[in-house]
Amino acid sequence: MNSPLPSTRSIGLPIGLLAELTHRCPLACPYCSNPVALEGRDTELSTDDWKRVFSEAAKLGILQVHLSGGEPAARRDLVDLVAHCASVGLYTNLITSGIGVTEELIHQLFDAGLDHIQLSIQDADADSADKIAGYKGAFKKKQLVAGWIKANGFPLTVNAVMHRVNITRSAAMVELAMLLGASRVEIAHTQYYGWALPNRSALMPSRAATEKAVADVDALRKRHAGAIVIDLVIPDYHATYPKACMGGWAKQFINVTPSGKVLPCHASETIPDLEFWNVKVHNLSDIWHRSPAFNAYRGTAWMAEPCRSCDRRDVDFGGCRCQAFALTGDASATDPACFKSPHHVLMKDIAAAESSDGADTYIYRR
Ligand code: SF4
Ligand code: FES
Repeated sequence: MNSPLPSTRSIGLPIGLLAELTHRCPLACPYCSNPVALEGRDTELSTDDWKRVFSEAAKLGILQVHLSGGEPAARRDLVDLVAHCASVGLYTNLITSGIGVTEELIHQLFDAGLDHIQLSIQDADADSADKIAGYKGAFKKKQLVAGWIKANGFPLTVNAVMHRVNITRSAAMVELAMLLGASRVEIAHTQYYGWALPNRSALMPSRAATEKAVADVDALRKRHAGAIVIDLVIPDYHATYPKACMGGWAKQFINVTPSGKVLPCHASETIPDLEFWNVKVHNLSDIWHRSPAFNAYRGTAWMAEPCRSCDRRDVDFGGCRCQAFALTGDASATDPACFKSPHHVLMKDIAAAESSDGADTYIYRR
């Protein structure tokens, strides 16, 4: 945090912007990445504000906009926003639960220039999927929506978040995605931020179940090579090295909340004392280059040992700042997912204890 600021010339350009259009959502998934303190409808940016943000993003060099939430279809201006993104040359990806989406809306989004859709599915078993989502009938509705997406010619990615209850069906999720016509499926083990952190003991899978799921999905990847892209996000708590979270802090991505706060990652508000700038006050380019939150952990100069002298520091950037803070109380510490962290053992102990003796009810996101 006290390291010298990088010169604006040494800062690269972002490639992607995640627009959390709203935190409203009909589903209540216990691993939702939204903050536990959700932003209300009355604080949401207006249509004109979002359009200005997207124009500034295109000018800054951003290539892709991910329209997310909450459920982005809860915004009545979604088609208008997509059309604007297309008009300024941005590639648009809609990340949706499918609930609240109609066939007519899918048509309109296609005509507006939407490029790609990611549909979340909670489990390959219908009853379990509805229970995880906290919404009866969600699984059935998602099958319908997947059909509309394919009928309108969109490329489809299925997003599946895996945890203790559904981990044994990881391979079945891949098969389901193929059945629905997806060209890509993301099997992502739960990352413990947002709502997933207070639900961790109800979500944590065992190491044995995790290893089996990873092996099953790897086998399917070989069997279906060329037919579907299978992306696998492995769980930090059972890892040896951390992930390069966000591709490095403030290196590739920008996250804009419903009220216009601009974050280096979706969970960064959990780190105290970071100063976030808002698009209502600052231009996106200024925020990217000069805002205190973006410069706090940019590059590698802020690192302490063991990251500072590690030959992987430009590979994983010391892991995840939010996870480091959540588990050690110090956002500049080595991510405990790394075996070199003095807190690595603590992480393994938490995983072992919570996977065998954890809670059996969820705190739903309501
Ligand atoms: Fe990555 Fe730091 Fe671990 Fe090295 S010590 S592998 S840079 S987290
Ligand atoms: Fe914030 Fe990883 S989630 S840096």
